[in-house]
Amino acid sequence: MNALPRLTVIGTGYLGATHAICMAVMGYEVIGVDVDPDKVARLNSGEVPFFEPGLPELLAKALETGRLSFTTSFAEAGEFGDVHFICVGTPQMAGSEAADMTYVDAAVTALAAHLHRRALVVGKSTVPVGTAARLAELLRTAAPAGDRIELAWNPEFLREGYAVDDTMKPDRLVFGVTSAWSEERLRAVFAPVLAQGVPVKVTDLQTAELVKVAANSFLATKISYINAMAEVCEATGADVHDLAEALAYDERIGGKFLRPGLGFGGGCLPKDIRAFAHRAEELGVGQAVGFLREIDGINGRRRARTVDLVVELCGGDVAGKKIAALGAAFKPNSDDIRDAPALDVASTLAGMGADVYVFDPAAMANARKAHPELNYGTGALDVARDADVVVLLTEWTEFRKIAPEAMAEVVRAQRIFDGRHVLDPAVWRAAGWEYKALGRP
Ligand code: UGA
Repeated sequence: MNALPRLTVIGTGYLGATHAICMAVMGYEVIGVDVDPDKVARLNSGEVPFFEPGLPELLAKALETGRLSFTTSFAEAGEFGDVHFICVGTPQMAGSEAADMTYVDAAVTALAAHLHRRALVVGKSTVPVGTAARLAELLRTAAPAGDRIELAWNPEFLREGYAVDDTMKPDRLVFGVTSAWSEERLRAVFAPVLAQGVPVKVTDLQTAELVKVAANSFLATKISYINAMAEVCEATGADVHDLAEALAYDERIGGKFLRPGLGFGGGCLPKDIRAFAHRAEELGVGQAVGFLREIDGINGRRRARTVDLVVELCGGDVAGKKIAALGAAFKPNSDDIRDAPALDVASTLAGMGADVYVFDPAAMANARKAHPELNYGTGALDVARDADVVVLLTEWTEFRKIAPEAMAEVVRAQRIFDGRHVLDPAVWRAAGWEYKALGRP
């Protein structure tokens, strides 16, 4: 008998596709399920539908083993799987700060109808605390196998851009379980990961759900903390870049996620802190995490301040000015533009009458679709041609490496705004540029 449990992964976005591919590479038989037939066809033909370094190579490898396939059929998944992972999205609900649970509920309901034998369903999506208990009940009542279906929670901490490494060798695994059997199943599923010495924390369901939102809230808080210091620096002439470096030497503080700049975006941190604050209010403990609204506020003010400084660089009015926007993705090594600070700033400037030309190494197609009002170019120097100001918004390596002399040859005026603190002000100023950054004199 094959001892390895057979896996299904419901939802093949950033999280699910990566999980399915990595598990297949690690030796498991995996079926990935998605309601989008186009995505399923692309994955089956070896194409990763989003930008993630290293993942296309791994998909090819996994497909070659014959252990991985993708389908739209929940019946097939129910029949096949011993352990089913729920990896669908929980975006912010329109008109509310709460998480939209439509996709999770639909996925679990669709799967439940096809669960005829003992199986474990494992939630990975980021959800409001209390969701797992509700879903466990849903499975018990809706699945033909009834009580023989158990639910566990296994939050995912992968970062876009590092998804493969974070999946193959995460900092830790969290198993939220209600029985020894569930824990044993999860240990079997993650045996190759655990064998590398990755620590595992076994908890109840609600603690596992909370670990995820608590982690993302902490990361967002750290970023906004240093960005709050940037605001104080701006009022005093101090330099937040030096301040952050000096703080980072204290091991208790540490330098990670203490990089000041335009702040956080993406499909996770912004909506997760809002959903957490919302859920805490529902639970009557809103005050405990009320500070998360301030974290969100600080983050939003960085975008507004960036716009103000660009306007200032343009002499008080951007109408009719040509602005080169370097970056669109919410961070480098990603084509994800969800809640991207870069595009927020670019579209605000365009709304003020500026001619904004955007270039991003990976996110052009997504940016074009979401912001047809912006202009798009073919490279950093291309969009900088005749620009009145250059604005660096996403810290791609190729932007860090731009030579100030080369850029000086194409622009109309040598003014640069470094939204991510990645250029050396001394070097740029020596080359004749007016250099501005958030929180720096
Ligand atoms: C984040 C978490 O880091 C992951 O652990 C988590 O699994 C994931 O959300 C999720 O919930 O799925 P991700 O959204 O991929 O991952 O991006 P991060 O690397 O965390 O960056 C988030 C934002 O913070 C970016 O816009 C980045 O530019 C910004 N940031 C990051 C800063 O402004 N300063 C920093 O020092 C660090």
